[in-house]
Amino acid sequence: MRIVEVGPRDGLQNEANTIPTEVKVAFVDALSATGVREVEVSSFVSPQWVPQLADAEDVFAKIKRPDGVIFSALVPNERGLERAEACGIDKVSLFTAASESFNQKNINATTDESIDRFRPVVAATDLTTRAYISTAFWCPYEGKIDPAAVVRVASRLTDLGVDELSVADTIGKASPADVRVLLDQLLPIAVPVALHFHDTYGMAIANALTAWKEYGIEVFDASAGGLGGCPYAPGASGNVATEDLVFALRASGATLDLAPRAFVEAAQIIEPHLGRPLESHLAKACRTE
Ligand code: HMG
Ligand code: MG
Repeated sequence: MRIVEVGPRDGLQNEANTIPTEVKVAFVDALSATGVREVEVSSFVSPQWVPQLADAEDVFAKIKRPDGVIFSALVPNERGLERAEACGIDKVSLFTAASESFNQKNINATTDESIDRFRPVVAATDLTTRAYISTAFWCPYEGKIDPAAVVRVASRLTDLGVDELSVADTIGKASPADVRVLLDQLLPIAVPVALHFHDTYGMAIANALTAWKEYGIEVFDASAGGLGGCPYAPGASGNVATEDLVFALRASGATLDLAPRAFVEAAQIIEPHLGRPLESHLAKACRTE
């Protein structure tokens, strides 16, 4: 089982307060010391579109790079790949969506245009690639998404040769029933699938347990402290908190050599800069213990 810690990227991209680079570096270093095998550090996107992550180069230059941890970042196009490779990243995260409206707002392109942008990126890099499919269940602009649309995007990305898909519930509204309907259609055609649950309606843990127990999915994205949200997905809350997910998976019998509290402690590095307390279940439990 593998947890992809996306807190430094998804967790911070939507924060209103500017978080100093040194604080981000300390956050990433604390996360890479937890034993998690993969950390998504930042984004090489347009700084006009996501100002909070405009210091991606600086963060990469300053973080520790312990052996055995994969350090990845979002890459939207060839320009992003050049910047990312200059920083020595280990893995490229491409991103598109099943919903045309969301893609227009998020990357100013249709789904097909975005995949056309990825082709030269995948061809040019020897690095491992993942591709996110946002709004795989619900879209903030179009409502419920037809699983057939997700399958179509997944099969185009698989044809492109990406190594992994991360199928995302961008606005955190999916239920275990939605997960079953989608995975029934997706798994027969897709390359290895990770799941990326936001937790707006409190269903993320139930969804992850369903995907693992019933479908054997073993890769989940999560964000320390439950930080996160997409600036172009109004109303979306953070990712499922890594500490809550790890707690739930271990309590349900998963072999996962990670200590949930280590993720609370990492998120506490960011907490003073948020202007609000951390909201994960475990962070609250730690406060009252
Ligand atoms: P655009 O404006 O359509 O394209 O942006 P452009 O090519 O005209 O570029 C505009 C400006 O950005 C130009 O600068 C480019 O040089 C520059 P100017 O000439 O105006 O000074 N530019 C870049 N600068 C640095 N690095 C680059 C880069 N590319 C262009 N790589 C673009 C298109 C894709 C760039 C833009 O829309 C963008 O950056 N979008 C990113 C949005 C984003 O990061 N959203 C959040 C992440 S997705 C997410 O959170 C969902 C996920 O978590 C899964 C889920 O939960 O669903 C992954
Ligand atoms: Mg996300």
